[in-house]
Amino acid sequence: MSQQSAPRPADLVVFGGTGDLSMRKLLPSLYLLDRDGHLDARTRVVAVSRDGLTDADFRDKAAAAVRGHQAVQVTEPDVLRRFLERLSHTTVDVGGDPSGWEDLAAVLAPDRDRVFYLAVPPMISGEICRGLAAAGLVTPAARVVMEKPLGRDLASSQAVNDAVGAVFDESRTYRIDHYLGKETVQNLLVLRFANVFLEPLWNSRWIDHVQITAAETVGVGGRRGYYDTSGAMRDMVQNHLLQLLCLTAMEPPSSYDRDAVRDEKLKVLQSLRPLEGDRVAEDTVRGQYGRGTVQGAEVLGYLDEAGGPAASDTETFVALRAEIANWRWAGVPFYLRTGKRMSHSRSEIVVRFREVPHPIFPGTHLPGAGSLVIRLQPDEGIHLTMLAKTPGAGALRLRPVPLELSFADTFSTRSPEAYERLLMDVLAGDSTLFMRRDEVEAAWRWVDPVIEAWNGLSTTPETYPAGSAGPAGAHRLIGRTGRTWYEEERHR
Ligand code: BG6
Repeated sequence: MSQQSAPRPADLVVFGGTGDLSMRKLLPSLYLLDRDGHLDARTRVVAVSRDGLTDADFRDKAAAAVRGHQAVQVTEPDVLRRFLERLSHTTVDVGGDPSGWEDLAAVLAPDRDRVFYLAVPPMISGEICRGLAAAGLVTPAARVVMEKPLGRDLASSQAVNDAVGAVFDESRTYRIDHYLGKETVQNLLVLRFANVFLEPLWNSRWIDHVQITAAETVGVGGRRGYYDTSGAMRDMVQNHLLQLLCLTAMEPPSSYDRDAVRDEKLKVLQSLRPLEGDRVAEDTVRGQYGRGTVQGAEVLGYLDEAGGPAASDTETFVALRAEIANWRWAGVPFYLRTGKRMSHSRSEIVVRFREVPHPIFPGTHLPGAGSLVIRLQPDEGIHLTMLAKTPGAGALRLRPVPLELSFADTFSTRSPEAYERLLMDVLAGDSTLFMRRDEVEAAWRWVDPVIEAWNGLSTTPETYPAGSAGPAGAHRLIGRTGRTWYEEERHR
């Protein structure tokens, strides 16, 4: 899994190469890979779009995108020049004038690996793949990279996978979930399977419940059009949150091999207890942000954001209670929660241990004690709260104290961007950190009935003010069993 091998020369062809993802994520990440010596000198990046740009125009756009990226900070002129020389633009009108495919063929080299990155809406993925095949551009080792959304339900996801699968077999298909490229997510596997002390405790006997949160302060911004057809369940839960749940809950794989890891993740998805019927109303909460103040700035409510209808039931927040029906996890709730326009940006997994079976000290039941927090962002780290004696000769008093591991302080090296890691893996032909078709489909199988049930309910998402902790229903959901969201417990 993601073991480094020497970079190989490749032609990386990005469909949607002038779009938002390419500018915000792919090009800055490729620049950083180049700067850090992870790209072979002969590797080329070909942006494909209908924009009719010259290579020079595209390089200007790319330079601005690289310079403006927060992870780049300072561009080194020599590195930037070398990087820009790798870039070119080809105009292809997919489904239209075929001459673009010939232009593309002319810039690809027979002795370089071919990677086709589809940074485009899923419904045109199949057409692009057919175009590539018809133009004879799909060499036996060529790979294809797909971005989410991978469909909007099981049926549409199967249609996209079938269309792409008709040209690229599964072993050459890389489905991105960028959460899998985050450093802490990979560290979660190391924490669990390279240390001996956690695994014996990692089950329903010692763990009371798990919370997985991805909270963002941003709203939907300019993506209202897309978002209105998606909502938080499809945008975040079906992929990022379920992947985090899989890595937290999976059995130890027999090796760090791509299929061994993905087989175990699939078993978790297949063990999720279906959320159907009355359970949907009981165990899920939908919210939609209204106007409010986020970090001192007044912001619009979801319905006022441009690019979508003035009335909409699209959820910008979801909290739900999931159960994994297997021996390890029976009876342990997994609370998943994600929302836009929340008070803080925070993504973390909180594993809450049970209390000791027989307390011998007074005050053993203290808020926040016995939690292991695996923090993905903003600051990556691992935080364990344990009870310790308060110093002093008086009455014996206990207090929760933190054991803190900050990756930034401990390793004092920059954590790569998720896309750097994933692009490097695609170029090296390592698909461990990518989703296999059966995983994506198993996730849709679990998510679809929830969305269907929501559509049949007379209730609409609960409004929560932007900049808040989400709708009150989320607090009732976890509070029903006497539990509390981690951040509230700490501040009690
Ligand atoms: C994307 C979603 O997949 O993930 C966005 O489409 C979301 O809506 C983003 O904002 C969050 O990613 P990150 O890395 O900022 O947590």
